[in-house]
Amino acid sequence: MDFSTVGQLIVEAEADGRIGQLRGVSGLSGGALVGMLQRLALHQRERGCYLEIGVFQGNTLLSVAHASPGIRAFGIDNFSQFDPEGTNKSIIETRIADNAIQNATLLDLDYEDALERYTELMPGTKAGLYFVDGPHDYRSQLMCLLLARPHLARNAIIVVDDCNYRHVRLANRDFLVAHPEFKLLFQAYTPTHPGNATAEQLESARAGWWNGVNVIVHDPDDVLLPMHPPTLRDRALYENEHLVHAAKRGFLAPEAVAFFSELLDFHPVRAARNFVRTLRKSRSTSASHVGAFASMNTFSDDLDAPRFNAGLAP
Ligand SMILES: C[S@@+](CC[C@H](N)C(=O)[O-])C[C@H]1O[C@@H](n2cnc3c(N)ncnc32)[C@H](O)[C@@H]1O
Repeated sequence: MDFSTVGQLIVEAEADGRIGQLRGVSGLSGGALVGMLQRLALHQRERGCYLEIGVFQGNTLLSVAHASPGIRAFGIDNFSQFDPEGTNKSIIETRIADNAIQNATLLDLDYEDALERYTELMPGTKAGLYFVDGPHDYRSQLMCLLLARPHLARNAIIVVDDCNYRHVRLANRDFLVAHPEFKLLFQAYTPTHPGNATAEQLESARAGWWNGVNVIVHDPDDVLLPMHPPTLRDRALYENEHLVHAAKRGFLAPEAVAFFSELLDFHPVRAARNFVRTLRKSRSTSASHVGAFASMNTFSDDLDAPRFNAGLAP
């Protein structure tokens, strides 16, 4: 595999952005990122399909499918985010029809369910280009890489969006360290999440790499050198997960953190709003999430699992 060509395509995408314009298609990704996906999909067309986690309203999936009519493009989304009206799926279907796209398949599924059923849902093809842009929590980011790994073509390219987030970079780093046959080929970041950007920063993010990107390649011949995205060595936040999972009401962690942050920043009204949200969530969450003890909840009191593997000889 000639990785220099891949590098040149990234430089070209950074300079020239997306290829062509679709009717009525917009979304949550930068011009350089969309242009890079389009060019890399064309480059990878002999290796396998284009696979995407996180379709939203179809910007990346449909831009790739349109620019590469010869490849099969699969997009997975369970429409759990950024879809308050429940209209995103039909927006994608309308855009597919309006732009006469024949090669895009939308799978309305959770990414874990879909990737566990890869061979059934995407028969006869490995993924040549894999774009990860779904849920951004650490575990999901890592699982997106781990579950897809057996289904990636030789010399597959993985593009991970939203790598400005430190925990996304850590998931990539953990994957790279544990799978040395994969290498980081390119990384680009922007100063902040677009939601916190100044007007100037936003304009540049929109044309460029939006919320940061990592490009990882399958390099079984060890052509490239080991390289990892920057992360913090201190793992305290990730270790805190144990306390949250074993707490009596760990499910309230996001609201509790927001409540105390607002208090510490002297925003009593916002803190009060978060307190109300905390109460509401506490009342509406299923009892199976509430521990019996203040801490060290194991949720193991009624486990009914066979002790030995059924395949063991008697
Ligand atoms: C940032 S958006 C994707 C943006 C899109 N690639 C674009 O460029 O416009 C993230 C998407 O991931 C989806 N998502 C979140 N959690 C998911 C899950 N567990 N399984 C599948 N999709 C998920 C959300 O519904 C949302 O549409």
